[in-house]
Amino acid sequence: MRRFSFFGPGDAFEDNLAAGRLTLFQQSAYAKIVTLKLQKLHPTFVAEVSPVDLRRVHDRATLDEIHKGMDEFALLVFRDQPFADAEQLEFAQRFDGQIHARTGAAVVGKSRLGNEALTDISNLDETGEVMAPDDRRRMYALGNRLWHTDASFVDPPGRYSMLSARIVPSVPVDTEYADMRAAYDALPAQVKAQLEGLRAHHSIAYSRQTLGFEFSEDEQEKLKGAIHPVVRTNPRSGRSSLYVASHASRIIDWPVPEGRLLLRDLIEHATQPQFVYRHSWRVGDFLIWDNRATMHRARPFADTKHPRELRRVTTLDIAESG
Ligand code: OGA
Ligand code: MN
Repeated sequence: MRRFSFFGPGDAFEDNLAAGRLTLFQQSAYAKIVTLKLQKLHPTFVAEVSPVDLRRVHDRATLDEIHKGMDEFALLVFRDQPFADAEQLEFAQRFDGQIHARTGAAVVGKSRLGNEALTDISNLDETGEVMAPDDRRRMYALGNRLWHTDASFVDPPGRYSMLSARIVPSVPVDTEYADMRAAYDALPAQVKAQLEGLRAHHSIAYSRQTLGFEFSEDEQEKLKGAIHPVVRTNPRSGRSSLYVASHASRIIDWPVPEGRLLLRDLIEHATQPQFVYRHSWRVGDFLIWDNRATMHRARPFADTKHPRELRRVTTLDIAESG
């Protein structure tokens, strides 16, 4: 049990706050104290947080508490968060700053949502119909079924992803998450020593190509990728995680096949059942995950039949001030 400061729905306070009419002192004087519960959903990570309406969380103290929850659990589940697009973008910005918009999807085609900062995680086309099996955007999106971490193919890479469930069919359309901190901790000491100082190249073109997706030369040129350490340490919690993904194409300075074999072994290790949490989506679910500390993948379902619509905002891993 933790104490959170929280602003209740429907306050005149909120109008004043949104209009920037309140001093910090007034903000804290108006804050209500409620008990916010974090209920663990997995032995090593993931907690469900309640009761809170994130659209109404503006105060630093509460946002800081959620950051602390992220440091501890790496994946937080919030139920019943009826975000509109603008509210989701605003929350992501005030929670964690700069938003990732250089997505792979933006290179392959324009988003039907009209804003590349809002990633369309759906199987719908611009008319709202489910996409045909051979729709190029569908085939590109199928890459989300590979274990990955968001925006590892840019520099700075993605930090937090925030995914809002808008349409969820009655068939299971789950997402799996793997705890890359627990996976790192469980490695034998000699493997940890071997990984020290290693760097990997990450490219979304590479992960899609492993599924047979083809890019034009121009697209490939725009999706050159980025290099990141194979082990990353969260500066706030001090915990290290494996930073690998299907985007990881090679280990820098290693022969390509040898590097790919190591990457495959590490992903296989990290996705053993004891490190994996499976999320069953409900409309209104809002998940925040730390891309430095987790991998995830969409699970298959009959996506040319059932509409499924989620929207994601991802922030960039830029050093935090203060
Ligand atoms: C994502 C993602 C998986 C899913 O939103 O980044 O990979 O199950 N989603 O839709
Ligand atoms: Mn993803």
